[in-house]
Amino acid sequence: MSQQQQDTLQRSIEHWFSLGSEAVGNSEALSAFHALRHALESGAIRSAEPDASQPTGWRVNPWVKRGILLGFRLGALESMNGCEASGISLLSFVDKATYPARRFMPEQGIRIVPGGSSVRSGAFLAAGVVMMPPAYVNVGAYVDEGTMIDSHALVGSCAQIGKRVHLSAAAQIGGVLEPVNASPVIIEDDVLVGGNTGVYEGTIVRSKAVLAAGTVLTRGTPVYDLPNDTVLRAAADAPLIIPSGAVVVPGSRAIQRGPGKNLGLSVYTPIIVKYRDEKTELSTALEELLR
Ligand SMILES: CC(C)(COP(=O)(O)OP(=O)(O)OC[C@H]1O[C@@H](n2cnc3c(N)ncnc32)[C@H](O)[C@@H]1OP(=O)(O)O)[C@@H](O)C(=O)NCCC(=O)NCCS
Repeated sequence: MSQQQQDTLQRSIEHWFSLGSEAVGNSEALSAFHALRHALESGAIRSAEPDASQPTGWRVNPWVKRGILLGFRLGALESMNGCEASGISLLSFVDKATYPARRFMPEQGIRIVPGGSSVRSGAFLAAGVVMMPPAYVNVGAYVDEGTMIDSHALVGSCAQIGKRVHLSAAAQIGGVLEPVNASPVIIEDDVLVGGNTGVYEGTIVRSKAVLAAGTVLTRGTPVYDLPNDTVLRAAADAPLIIPSGAVVVPGSRAIQRGPGKNLGLSVYTPIIVKYRDEKTELSTALEELLR
């Protein structure tokens, strides 16, 4: 998509979004939304993208998020058939007509293993992505080449997942649609997201980091970086950022004051125990044959 086409689409989306409920039922508004949805699915347009000029290295595209919200506004609820066997519908679903589940062909080189998974329209999956069932990828998400989405994993709305990432079983990557200028969750290339982890509220996990099983990261979670003797936190204008190559494990810290201290309680806290080394490479070596 040329820059000029993008600019035209952006103007059109901004226009229809600004009209609020007046856009509902307008076929031109629907066409603009469909053009955006198509561009999202082809990866030509993203809700957030790498941008070296930004402090975080990522730029959010609020107009794209407005376009996604426009889709919800324009879509009436409709029945959607799920699995069919011998002409009998085994499952039925109801969702906005503007967001049916995506369909894929073998030529795209994406494997969606059968069994309860769904990729919502407006999401991008690159060639070489493997999805084990059940898993869900929501609108505006971008999942790059060679990434594995294991069973019970969630890729929330607008999340950006890099190349060769492993989203282990039950990894939850939270969605960030509103506010439109809020950064989505970003998992950069070659990250291992362990089983039962949760990454929420615009957290950025830099390349090659490892989140051990059970780690949960939110804006409010301080992360203790032991090798650097520092504490990483989100700020009012910046998300929590896990540095490249950090190995983060779930830990706890003693409450230092008040009744919590008197009762000997502690709270959950993620800890960077080290930065990736040869042992980590061994621990995270993936079974390539499964790919
Ligand atoms: C993080 C992980 C990759 C281990 O990395 P590693 O570089 O081999 O880590 P090490 O074994 O050298 O451990 C470094 C330190 O962290 C601690 N640690 C490692 N993993 C931990 C975990 N999951 N929870 C708490 N502490 C952990 C170790 O005890 C060690 O501390 P110590 O030196 O005081 O004993 C591994 O624990 C892990 O979580 N793998 C993902 C498993 C998974 O989810 N698989 C998904 C399959 S679907």
